Amino acid sequence: DKGNYRHFMEKEIYDQPEAISDTLGHYINFSDNQVVAAWRDTVFTNVQSLAISACGTAYLAGLIGKYWFEHYARLPVEIDVASEFRYREIPFSPQVAALFISQSGETADTLACLRYCKEHGLKTGAVVNTPESTIARESDTVFPILAGPEIGVASTKAFTCQLAVLAALAVAAGRARGTLTEKEEQTLVARLAEMPRVIGQVLNSIQPRIELLSRELAKCRAVLYLGRGTSFPLAMEGALKLKEISYIHAQGYAAGELKHGPIALIDENMPVIVIAPHDRFFDKTASNMQEVAARGGRIILITDEKGARALKLDTMQTIVLPNVDEIIAPMIFSLPVQLLAYHTAVFAGTDVDQPRNLAKSVTVE
Ligand code: F6R
Repeated sequence: DKGNYRHFMEKEIYDQPEAISDTLGHYINFSDNQVVAAWRDTVFTNVQSLAISACGTAYLAGLIGKYWFEHYARLPVEIDVASEFRYREIPFSPQVAALFISQSGETADTLACLRYCKEHGLKTGAVVNTPESTIARESDTVFPILAGPEIGVASTKAFTCQLAVLAALAVAAGRARGTLTEKEEQTLVARLAEMPRVIGQVLNSIQPRIELLSRELAKCRAVLYLGRGTSFPLAMEGALKLKEISYIHAQGYAAGELKHGPIALIDENMPVIVIAPHDRFFDKTASNMQEVAARGGRIILITDEKGARALKLDTMQTIVLPNVDEIIAPMIFSLPVQLLAYHTAVFAGTDVDQPRNLAKSVTVE
């Protein structure tokens, strides 16, 4: 049931405060602000690395997870799209644990990776939204996403809830491996716990500005998305979401890669969407924005209050989000990215919930 919303995708975007709250409720013990998760006192204490595979949006969630596992837990992560992962002949050691991410739990390539890793004797865990799915049944451990049913073909709430699970697991891994203190864990968990409120606040405030912008984007033939750090996978997610439902060609790039090729595309017709919270990468990304501005590119900046104040540059449009801790920024910055794709598709007049050529669950390799 879509309720008062025009599309399932819109409803699912607005479901996120509740969905994230359900997810967090499963992974957090609020009485002591600690993460409760399988693997905390077992796998995470003795693995040497993690191997993540997934497809599409779930893969991009995994890529953000990689930054977290490496930063908070100093746990190295191998990651690839599932359709490449098992053909790379990665030299596994027994100290590798394999993690799969899938909304449906039925994606053929991801399932094939799970079976491949089991054959190689790896411990397996699956972050899945569908508890009765094949991937959930066949993996040693299930980490439920608890986003609730997702009907729109373009993944929205399953993505942010996957991120919430991965953030919680990275913190648990950090504690298990001694890279985070008890106090640090409690602080990070308190930040995670703020998400439902901040998501609600952002969803209630950014819509008018996003609609204005989407009306312009709907007329464009191509869009570039840039980001650095965890905003890089998010830039790729923004591009994926935009192209799959509005059919506008979009590409996500690491901001620093701009000058290695895509800068040739920049002219006054090229919108460049930059995701740049005021984090430790901000100044670097700001200088990439200068490069775009110097060539007449139209910058659409998604930043926070600090970033908006720090930037001395004219943008075509700036979307300003509240200042939030680094660990929740990817979930918060997902919201404008999802809404931009959604409203652009509505203006373009496409079938938002059922985009052409796509299926919700891809059960062929
Ligand atoms: C994009 C999208 C797809 C899926 C991908 C994996 O919006 O929904 O890219 O993320 O097909 O699907 P699951 O997560 O079901 O394995």
